[in-house]
Amino acid sequence: MTNRTFTMIKPDAVANGHIGAILEKVTSAGFKIVAMKYTQLSRRDAEKFYAIHKERPFYGELVQFMTRGPIVSAILEKDNAVDDFRALIGATNPAEAAEGTIRKLFATNISENAVHGSDSDENAAIEGAFHFSGREIY
Ligand code: CMP
Repeated sequence: MTNRTFTMIKPDAVANGHIGAILEKVTSAGFKIVAMKYTQLSRRDAEKFYAIHKERPFYGELVQFMTRGPIVSAILEKDNAVDDFRALIGATNPAEAAEGTIRKLFATNISENAVHGSDSDENAAIEGAFHFSGREIY
């Protein structure tokens, strides 16, 4: 699965009306959408998805943010998907993100940073399987 990554358009970007613009940048960069849904995370979902950050000081704020409104989750396919997608979205903190990146264009701040991108092939597979069953992936 080294040619796939997982993404979410987060509640800030959805609420600010950026779904269309973000998807346009993603597909224009050569990513094929192989799974996608418009959904809202429960508290239990977010706590489980972000369990890796449980000990971080921002964990509670992160769970609160990610559950406050709908998101778009998707699995994307492209050669070198994980690294190329992280380059497309830019640094976690939009203040440090390169010009033209999705976070530079659409993120609010380091905690409300518009999009998620998996950080490894292993996590892309885990995160994609958290959100999608096999029959939802095309
Ligand atoms: P992401 O990298 O998609 O997944 C972990 C998230 O935690 C990150 O995006 C931010 O939304 C959030 N995050 C990371 N660092 C901080 C921080 N220093 N303060 C608040 N939120 C953070």
